[in-house]
Amino acid sequence: MSIESHKPTSIISGVGSYVPSQVVDNVTLSKKVDTSDEWIRSRTGIKQRRFATEKEATSDLAFIASQNALSDAGKKPNDIDLVIVATITPDMAFPSTACLIQHRLGIPKVACFDIEAACSGFLYALDIADGMLSSGRFKCALVVGAEKLSSIMDWEDRTTCVLFGDGAGAAVLTNSGEGPQLIGFKSGADGSNPTLLHQPAGGSLEPASMKSLDARGHFLKMNGREIFKSAVRVMSTAARELLSENGFSVDDVDHIIPHQANARIVESLSQRLAIPLDKFFCNLDKYGNTSAASIPIAFDEATKASIFKQGQLGLFVAFGAGLTWSAVLVRF
Ligand code: COA
Repeated sequence: MSIESHKPTSIISGVGSYVPSQVVDNVTLSKKVDTSDEWIRSRTGIKQRRFATEKEATSDLAFIASQNALSDAGKKPNDIDLVIVATITPDMAFPSTACLIQHRLGIPKVACFDIEAACSGFLYALDIADGMLSSGRFKCALVVGAEKLSSIMDWEDRTTCVLFGDGAGAAVLTNSGEGPQLIGFKSGADGSNPTLLHQPAGGSLEPASMKSLDARGHFLKMNGREIFKSAVRVMSTAARELLSENGFSVDDVDHIIPHQANARIVESLSQRLAIPLDKFFCNLDKYGNTSAASIPIAFDEATKASIFKQGQLGLFVAFGAGLTWSAVLVRF
C-alpha cells in the first residue's frame, strides 16, 4: 500500500514549547541526592533538567507552550475548536488542565479535556485529535503535552528523582493547509502489570491520608530495569507494525523522535530497529524525561533547527506507564 492511497489526515500547522528557566545540572542535584554526575550521565545520558518553581503549575507551562504553538501556526484563540492536554501531573484532579488553559488563552467555549496515557500521552492525544478532525465536526485542535514531574518526584528515591524534568510542548492541528501531515497511528497498551510505574496514592483506591503520606505513596514509583526492557520491546514492535501497515520499511524513515527517557533506551531501540542512531533526534541531555511533554518539546526544537526537509518521513514513538505505547508517522 502506498502513501498516495491513504486518505489525508491532519496537518500540524504549528508547534511550540516552553521549559521553565530553572536549570539543575547533575552536580547540583548530587548535593541534594546521593548520586553523581558520572552515574547519571553513564546510565541515562541526562546532564541537566528544568524545574518549575513552587508557584508554577502544569497549566502555566502548558499556557506558554500553547501561545507559542498558536503564534507558530498563525492562529488566534478564536480559531481553536478543540483542546486536548496530555498529562499525568494536572494542576488538580479536576477540572482538567485543558479547561484551565482554555480560559487563560481566551479560546471560545469549545470541547476541552485531558487524557492520561503517561509518556505516550501526547501521541495518544494526536491520534484522538486526528480522529475528531477527520469526523468533520472539528477544524482546528490545540494538542498539548505538559508536566510538572517535580511535583511527584521522591527526593528520597535516587533511582527515580534523577530522571525527570518539567516542561510543555504543543501543536496546532488542522484538517487543511500547510505543514507536516500525520499519516499513520499505532497506539496500544498492556495493563497487566500496572505497578511497574505508578503513583499509588491520591486516587480512589488509596485516597490521601496520613498513612498514604507516611508511606510516600503520592510519589512516582518505578521498577527501572523492567521498564527499560519493556520500553525497547514495545516501541520497536509498534514502530515496525506502523511502518508495515503503511507500506514502509525501516529504511524509508528519515527521522525518529523517540520519547526522551534514556539515551541507552534510544541506543537499544536504534539497534533493534536497525535504524542508525544519527536519525534519532535527542535532547534528553538538557531536559531529562518530561513524560507527555518530551516528544512535542523535541519536535519543536528539531523543527526550529530546520532538521526536517519537505517530503521526508518522520516517526514519533513513545512508551509510558500503563504500560502504554504509541507510534505516529509524519510526512514533512
Ligand atoms: N546514583 C547513584 N547510584 C544509583 C542511583 C543514582 N541515582 N540510582 C541507583 N543507583 C545504584 C543502585 O542503588 C544500585 O546499586 P547496588 O548495585 O549497590 O545495589 C546500582 O546503582 C544499580 O542500580 P539499578 O537500578 O540496577 O541500575 P540500572 O542500571 O538498572 O539503571 C535506571 C537504573 C533507572 C537508570 C534504568 O533502569 C532505566 O533507565 N530504566 C528505565 C527508566 C525509564 O526510562 N523510565 C521512564 C519510563 S517513561
